[in-house]
Amino acid sequence: MKFFILLVLLLVTSIIHMITGGSAAHRCFCQVTGTLDDCACDVETIDKFNNRDVFPKLQKLLASDYFRFYKVNLNNPCPFWTDHSQCGLKYCAVKPCTPSEVPEGLKSSSYKYTAEASQEIEECEMAEKLGAVNSSLSDETRQALQEWKKHDDDSDRFCMLDDEDSPDSQYVDLLLNPERFTGYKGPEAWRIWNSIYEENCFKPYSVKRPLNPLVFNSGDIDGQGFYHWLEGLCVEKRAFFRLISGLHASINVHLSARYLLDENWFEMKWGHNVSEFQVRFDEELTKGEGPKRLRNLYFLYLIELRALAKVLPYFEFSSFHLYTGQPAQDFENKKLLLELLHVAKSFPLHFDETTLFAGNNKEAMKLKEDFKLTFKNISRIMDCVECFKCRLWGKLQTQGLGTALKILFSERQIEAMPNTSKTNPSFQLSRQEIVSLFNAFGRISTSVRELKNFRSLLSKSDSD
Ligand SMILES: *[C@@H]1O[C@H](CO)[C@@H](O)[C@H](O)[C@H]1NC(C)=O
Ligand SMILES: *[C@@H]1O[C@H](CO)[C@@H](O)[C@H](O)[C@H]1NC(C)=O
Ligand SMILES: *[C@@H]1O[C@H](CO)[C@@H](O)[C@H](O)[C@H]1NC(C)=O
Ligand SMILES: *[C@@H]1O[C@H](CO)[C@@H](O)[C@H](O)[C@H]1NC(C)=O
Repeated sequence: MKFFILLVLLLVTSIIHMITGGSAAHRCFCQVTGTLDDCACDVETIDKFNNRDVFPKLQKLLASDYFRFYKVNLNNPCPFWTDHSQCGLKYCAVKPCTPSEVPEGLKSSSYKYTAEASQEIEECEMAEKLGAVNSSLSDETRQALQEWKKHDDDSDRFCMLDDEDSPDSQYVDLLLNPERFTGYKGPEAWRIWNSIYEENCFKPYSVKRPLNPLVFNSGDIDGQGFYHWLEGLCVEKRAFFRLISGLHASINVHLSARYLLDENWFEMKWGHNVSEFQVRFDEELTKGEGPKRLRNLYFLYLIELRALAKVLPYFEFSSFHLYTGQPAQDFENKKLLLELLHVAKSFPLHFDETTLFAGNNKEAMKLKEDFKLTFKNISRIMDCVECFKCRLWGKLQTQGLGTALKILFSERQIEAMPNTSKTNPSFQLSRQEIVSLFNAFGRISTSVRELKNFRSLLSKSDSD
């Protein structure tokens, strides 16, 4: 009897759904539930695990001095194209373009043109302001960082990251430069993501993708469209695409959650913009792509989580310090870090070891090389991002993901660490890699946490 009532209820709700076309919350999240492809894990378990066990610890760790200062070169020229964008930061920065500077002649000749032009200029100034990186550090901090560097150089690292040693590299305080809405959008932003998806995701050239990611091929009869080609790929290459898509989704969750809602002369008000979120993730508005993007976000979460679980022996057995020159604090941070890694290891539904990255044969080696090259290329594409704050977070997150992959591909070396010589370990991470790994995971973890907020905001807007 109970069962029957349930059945009727179910039927009634689904009929209501058919009539109303589904609620707003439902349209973003209906497919974002249950088990994920290519792994034996479900979204609900991840949500609970992240929001309760991971997120608070991770936030605390990332606020510490060791993790908040990231060294990055934001001045590399774009190696792939010269930009001609109207709102290029170069032009804006050199020549502040206020509406009053628009020549009178232009103003009077066509009202519409002027209105458009001045709006463009306003948007351009706004994007420049919001996209700027605050690179201010106190003299004290600067000095401390010099000390850290000396310490890091003394402990013989075997692999240098070219960027880190460039004279153009500078430390940036990540807490002063939160990832949020910057106004960076339009064709220039699309171009970045398109060259990543088109030319750096193992995609066959025959598959077409629209330039504007918010517009989809109405000619997609099978409803699968862009995603169809993925089926022909090996599981690792498919994984690669999904990681990139997950990264993209995470960035968009952040922009929607830290949207510039209001601004006046004494403050800026940041917060959730539900309609921005819907534009990017609603099933109908994105022709089915939105929920897939969110699933890819969870997939990315799992990959980075697994890397953290795998890297535990490195931090546990090496004489590794989170060196900042303050012994008591460094000790506490190391303890917190190990706690977090043990939590990561305790996650019950990690990937099946044998399906991804685990091979030791020729094919796996080739795959590893392919991944490395493609990843390197993607970090170079980040040098083409005009908005500096987006460039900063783009670089940090690709480096973090690259470090996660490095860990997953080095599984054997890390497992053997307790038994190998401490002075010449076969696996090492630089400070920059460590900072990017944890901060990148911090972004994804925050995104998963934000999805909970959007879920409840959307249900609220349903009942209004
Ligand atoms: C950068 O951050 C510092 C510290 O919060 C602040 O005093 C300074 O005004 C900021 N600079 C800019 C350009 O926003
Ligand atoms: C690197 O990316 C650029 C820009 O998308 C592309 O033209 C080039 O073919 C890529 N190179 C490799 C080796 O993947
Ligand atoms: C929220 O985002 C939409 C675009 O998706 C924009 O039109 C709207 O103005 C934003 N709302 C606020 C309060 O800024
Ligand atoms: C390390 O050495 C110990 C004792 O020699 C051995 O029992 C253990 O299996 C080794 N561990 C690894 C990961 O090789």
